Amino acid sequence: MSPYPMRRARPACRVPIYAVLVALPLLALGLAEPHPAAAAELAGRVTGPDGVPVVGALVTAERGDPARGTTVFSDADGRFAIPGLDAGVWELRVRRIGWRDRREAVPVPGAEWAATLERETDAAALAEQLPANRWFALLLDEIDDPVHREQFVRQCTYCHQQGSPATRVPREDWQWEKVLALMARLGGGLTEDVRVQVPRWFAAAYDPDHAIPRLTKGMATPAFAPPPPPEVRRAVIDEWVLGGRASMQHDLMVHPSGHVYSVDMMQDALFRLDPETGETKSFPIPDDGLPLGGVFATGGSPLVPNSNAHVGPHSLQVGPDGSVWVTLALGNRLGRFDPRSEQWKLYALDEGFYPHTLRVDGKGRVWFTIAGSNHVARFDPAQERFETIRLPAQSLRQDVMLRLIPVFLWLSQYVEIDLGAASEGVVGMPVPYGIDIAPDGDVWFSQLNAHRIGRIDPETLAVEMVDTPFTAPRRLRFDSQGKLWIPGFSSGLVSRFDPKTRSFESWEIPIEPKGTETPYALHVERSTDTVWICGTNSDTLIRFDPERERFLVYPLPTRVTYTREIDFDSRGRVWTSNSNTPTWQIERGQPRVIRLDPRDPDGPTPAHTLAGVP
Ligand code: HEC
Repeated sequence: MSPYPMRRARPACRVPIYAVLVALPLLALGLAEPHPAAAAELAGRVTGPDGVPVVGALVTAERGDPARGTTVFSDADGRFAIPGLDAGVWELRVRRIGWRDRREAVPVPGAEWAATLERETDAAALAEQLPANRWFALLLDEIDDPVHREQFVRQCTYCHQQGSPATRVPREDWQWEKVLALMARLGGGLTEDVRVQVPRWFAAAYDPDHAIPRLTKGMATPAFAPPPPPEVRRAVIDEWVLGGRASMQHDLMVHPSGHVYSVDMMQDALFRLDPETGETKSFPIPDDGLPLGGVFATGGSPLVPNSNAHVGPHSLQVGPDGSVWVTLALGNRLGRFDPRSEQWKLYALDEGFYPHTLRVDGKGRVWFTIAGSNHVARFDPAQERFETIRLPAQSLRQDVMLRLIPVFLWLSQYVEIDLGAASEGVVGMPVPYGIDIAPDGDVWFSQLNAHRIGRIDPETLAVEMVDTPFTAPRRLRFDSQGKLWIPGFSSGLVSRFDPKTRSFESWEIPIEPKGTETPYALHVERSTDTVWICGTNSDTLIRFDPERERFLVYPLPTRVTYTREIDFDSRGRVWTSNSNTPTWQIERGQPRVIRLDPRDPDGPTPAHTLAGVP
């Protein structure tokens, strides 16, 4: 039997709301004082060569180092206005599928900018403009067996997009052997029967002679890439480059102070962004004496190339006193960062491997999933004590494997363990994933690979499990009514679970072609119970209004935008980060945090304030 190594650089997303409670004391501490930057607007119009308006183009103004950009959409008349830009020269880019990108340096303030676009008539160049999921559809078509397809989607899309340019490069069999061995070492294992077919699937799907005509069929017709609807075109999207090329901003969180915190999993740092001033600061996380790779350092490193991780921060949440709690996945620790003193305190887990997503309950206790060893733990900050709960496995064999993990890790100091082979065992491990606290205090979590969710009684710690009628429940969230919203990662749907009636209601994610989206996480904006979902494989954020059962899809400006966690600020603006791993696959190769302001006429606060570039 292969030893079970642990999945590594796993993605995850999340976000909570103790905001109101925390906001008052923090404001009193003077942590929030914006400053009005002298802001100008850049207006213009996007047209084709014949003067006909181009509707729904993404118009981005960007500058600075690290770069910071603002994007708006052109309206029905091709007009756009980018608010809140500081005076100076900005790099403008206009982008719309079916048209060639246009770039120009433009002074602000300045005259109206007339952007004339040229049609993209070259089919290969047009296909390059399409998001990864459109290409991924071709690959999925090659996989006949639905069980193989589900496994491939679940295991091969949780660090990076599939169908993006880097994944489409033609490879010989020996090159695939190397790629798949690396993926397996990182945690992206496949069972043998699936692995042997991978090279053939890729070669057939991405052969340009076959792919390009299929992807560009009907390219000259208006139905080929229709513009987003008017509600979407109202949005303003801001992006901040955060960290370097070897960084990976795994999860982020909006602090009640208004600052946005993000963890760089590859460089062991916590970043703080002040969206009002654009100022950023990074706080290194102590390594606690752990080697590179943390507790997984022995027996073959699980690290992504360029990684400098000893503790590997994964997810973060705010506590009732404003402190930031961070799961340190590679270090097997829970960290507490005090924003006032800027000091860290690390707590080593008693039991379990790979602390993952976390939430803070109404009593200030920190609950988190432990993905590698099938646990959930509760940490009581007052007593500085963990309570670790072993979750049900799916079979006796699996239970034994999970209990043997500490032995494998210990052994791996002395014997070389074939992590590639071992990763096969991971494919079937339960992998506790998302977690959230219900309004009544119950704790609910998902077991990603076991296709089920579970409830923990917060006082007795009794566990009960519920099978999901769909595959791969990932990062789940409660709405204000106590209904649990769950993204089906490999099933391309969003589901609402009612803990009272134990019933599920599901909606297919409307990204075309259906089944090509891998919704990693979602969050519910609880003043309106609007659900926001990661369009992880299609460079989008997806909004769902449960009352009207209506989806809106917001295209994001950067290609290869892989999102894992969503949070909201006090104005109902939506925050996420581009955490595609590796970062070099992202367009222009840098990680970004993203803010989307839907500018709803009836939203919490329609006003949009923009930070200048320092
Ligand atoms: C745990 C994270 C993770 C998972 C899961 C994962 N990958 Fe990767 N993948 C990476 C990283 C990191 C790189 C970049 C490696 C590098 O820079 O050398 C990468 C690169 C690639 C590349 C480009 C390789 C190159 O040399 O340009 C391909 C193709 C790829 N992955 C396919 C897959 C397939 C197929 C699967 C499913 C078996 C998979 N990935 C699962 C992390 C992952």
